[in-house]
Amino acid sequence: MASLVERDAAVVEGLLQKLRNPETGLAVKYRILFSLRGIAGPEAHAAMLEGLKDPSALFRHEVAYCLGQRQDPAAVETLKRILKDEGEHPMVRHEAGEALGAIGTEECLAPLREHLRDPCAEVAHTCQLALQRIEHFAAVQAQADAAAAEAGTDAAPSESRYYSVDPTPAAPAATPLSQLRATLLSEEAPIFQRYRAMFALRNRGGGDAVAALGASFTAASSALLKHEVAYVLGQMQDAAAVQTLKEVLGDATENAMVRHEAAEALGSIAAPECLELLKQYAEDPEPIVADSCIVALDMLHFEQSGGFQYADGGEAAAAEQAGAAAVVASA
Ligand SMILES: [Fe+2]
Ligand SMILES: [Fe+2]
Repeated sequence: MASLVERDAAVVEGLLQKLRNPETGLAVKYRILFSLRGIAGPEAHAAMLEGLKDPSALFRHEVAYCLGQRQDPAAVETLKRILKDEGEHPMVRHEAGEALGAIGTEECLAPLREHLRDPCAEVAHTCQLALQRIEHFAAVQAQADAAAAEAGTDAAPSESRYYSVDPTPAAPAATPLSQLRATLLSEEAPIFQRYRAMFALRNRGGGDAVAALGASFTAASSALLKHEVAYVLGQMQDAAAVQTLKEVLGDATENAMVRHEAAEALGSIAAPECLELLKQYAEDPEPIVADSCIVALDMLHFEQSGGFQYADGGEAAAAEQAGAAAVVASA
């Protein structure tokens, strides 16, 4: 399970009250959620589940994502329910499937198998990837355990420079960049292999890797793949990706899930020229995109201010919200 910190029950209760308060803005709620995600115990878990009642599909998808990143099996029943619920937004259901893959316990297998051919392509593909992830790591673990048993040591934990629990492993680090690029961009290659190439390119970093990732927005038809590419470009925080991400965000014909990740990636890269663009699309008619830009603007302020901790219980974003309200009130 992910490493979590202990906090007083009063701290969790305070965060929960802020989350429930209808006056609390989306950017503040995001920071509260990311604070709760790092706190151990059933109280923090229960407080996160409250977030699933939020009217914003974007926020609900982020709750499902955080439940997966915590890798707490206590979330499995809730995630199963979300995955089954055809009335829920596909992006939230996708994130629930991915979270089940991240948790990866025995009881995650049946619900993922049930949705392998879900009518919603993003959900079906997510479940296929999640099952392959579980199978892959089970095989790797079995191999590592066998080697460690032979050597009389503990199995070494796998390492990644990024803190996320990824939906698939990366391709082997020694794979040539040209081969990673070709696999990522090939519409014939299995999606699991394309994801592996994508994470290997992220881990490799540098201009050629960013260019290969960026090329997938025109080469790939899968919205699922493209949204994950935008996500990893945000993780890389490489300014070389800004122009491509701006085009993706600005493309009203692109899937909202892809535009959402492009907006948040721009917030995380925090190039100064993104400010106006994010403000403009914070008014987008698609709520997923508009909400993403509100969150991205807060991320951009955080990065630009050299902020110490994004998951600050919503303090910084709340101060900003109050400041903005004061300006409006005084105008
Ligand atoms: Fe996702
Ligand atoms: Fe997302």
